[in-house]
Amino acid sequence: MDRDAFTTTPWQDNFEIRIPQSPDTKAPFDVIIAGAGITGITTGLFLQQAGKKCLILEAHTVCFGTSSATTAHLNTVLDTSYPELIKKFGTASSRLVAQGAKEAIGLIKEHIKAYEIDCDFEEKKGYLYAQNEKEDDELGKMLEGMRTAGIEAAPGSSIPLPVPFTTAIQFPGQAQLHPLKYLKALLHQFLEAGGAIRTGAPVQKVVQKEGIQEVYSANGRYSAADVVYATHIPPGINLLHFRCAPYRSYVLGIRLADHSYPDALVYDIEDPYHYFRTARHQGAPLLIVGGCDHKTGHADNTGQLFRELEAYAAKFFRIASIPYRWSSQYYEPADGLPYIGRLPGNNDHLYTATGYSGNGMIFGTLAGRILCNLITGNDNPYKTLLAPSRIKPVAGFSNFIKENADVVRHFIGDRLSVEVPEAFAGLGIGEGRVVKQGGQPIAVYKNEEGNIFALDPVCPHAGCLVQWNNAERSWDCPCHGSRFDSTGAVLNGPSQKKLRQLNR
Ligand code: FES
Repeated sequence: MDRDAFTTTPWQDNFEIRIPQSPDTKAPFDVIIAGAGITGITTGLFLQQAGKKCLILEAHTVCFGTSSATTAHLNTVLDTSYPELIKKFGTASSRLVAQGAKEAIGLIKEHIKAYEIDCDFEEKKGYLYAQNEKEDDELGKMLEGMRTAGIEAAPGSSIPLPVPFTTAIQFPGQAQLHPLKYLKALLHQFLEAGGAIRTGAPVQKVVQKEGIQEVYSANGRYSAADVVYATHIPPGINLLHFRCAPYRSYVLGIRLADHSYPDALVYDIEDPYHYFRTARHQGAPLLIVGGCDHKTGHADNTGQLFRELEAYAAKFFRIASIPYRWSSQYYEPADGLPYIGRLPGNNDHLYTATGYSGNGMIFGTLAGRILCNLITGNDNPYKTLLAPSRIKPVAGFSNFIKENADVVRHFIGDRLSVEVPEAFAGLGIGEGRVVKQGGQPIAVYKNEEGNIFALDPVCPHAGCLVQWNNAERSWDCPCHGSRFDSTGAVLNGPSQKKLRQLNR
């Protein structure tokens, strides 16, 4: 199965989602959804069941983006800690977030039961652990915050990992699954309920005409009353691009020599934190370890991060082999909560969901419920808290400034720091680099045959300079996370245009 990267995840390996291409139709739809990942498929299914006629337009193939690269932790203890949520949004809102996370797990369970989905779903206990006095203090506050928000949790005297720790907490009610088995089944339910899908159909623009949304795609023009951008981040230049920062996370799939696989979801509280789970994969257990997160386009050698993660895992586990190494992208919201609802600055019929942090399975599922309720005119308890147009002058303000200062640096600074032409000659097979030739920056890549591809490194979205990601052999934009393959084709938006080719 294809995805937006060079590396392969265990979920994709030997797995296919073959779907019949729905017949092209010019008949108006009720809702067009751009993107066939967890958000698009879940939203489509809910809407279709609510009597709406839906079309999913996917730019590439089903689950091409982060949905095939998630580690599929279904957790109620989210990336934004409960003490942080209480401080920024108040106790009542923190309880609502906890309720939403529980509801998302409940919705997934309902789907699995109703459609008899075989997706390796297992309920697990969760563990968080500290490794020094400062972290002990932080963990104590986290426990208090979790309980205040209504998450059942208790101090623990052990963790299911061979990792030294000082204090720990444990919490029931977590779960895990095989994301692609789950989403494949959900997509089939969507189609059985009368939904339509077209792949290889990137949405290029949406124009409102007499109250109808005209959707222009690479393979045709469609119309609908409402449009949902379930594209990880909406395209175009929008307020949300300045409220979400793209990050990448690194994951190893490890076979152990001593079979000491954790039977739980486990997290340390370092920054960035490490996360652990076990998957049953191809008849044997697989330890999944993640971490080494960084802002997209901010690591000089992304391949080195796999080696760092491997060295970290080797300190504690007896590694027999590492059949999988992969990385994936997520968006950090400025104030710690996702943006789900009407797309700000547009007409009232455009919707989006973004800024999930590392909790895509939870918020992608919850977004399906919220967007369905908004579009069908029903109330939803989370709609105000998670509205993309929310104004929180205090919450997230420092992050907002920091992230945008960083964007400005990439608009201006990168143009002054490109490398010298000699670097061009030293380019290895499968390597890319931004070099300067005749005063102009050029993104160059050498393929397996030794051919050089030269691209304009200026990101078509808003003009930042892309950086080479050697782990995934992609050009990544440090500003809003657009990613392009080695030939310049779009892997991830918000850019809707490819990098300009300079040689042929
Ligand atoms: Fe916005 Fe590249 S993604 S400038």
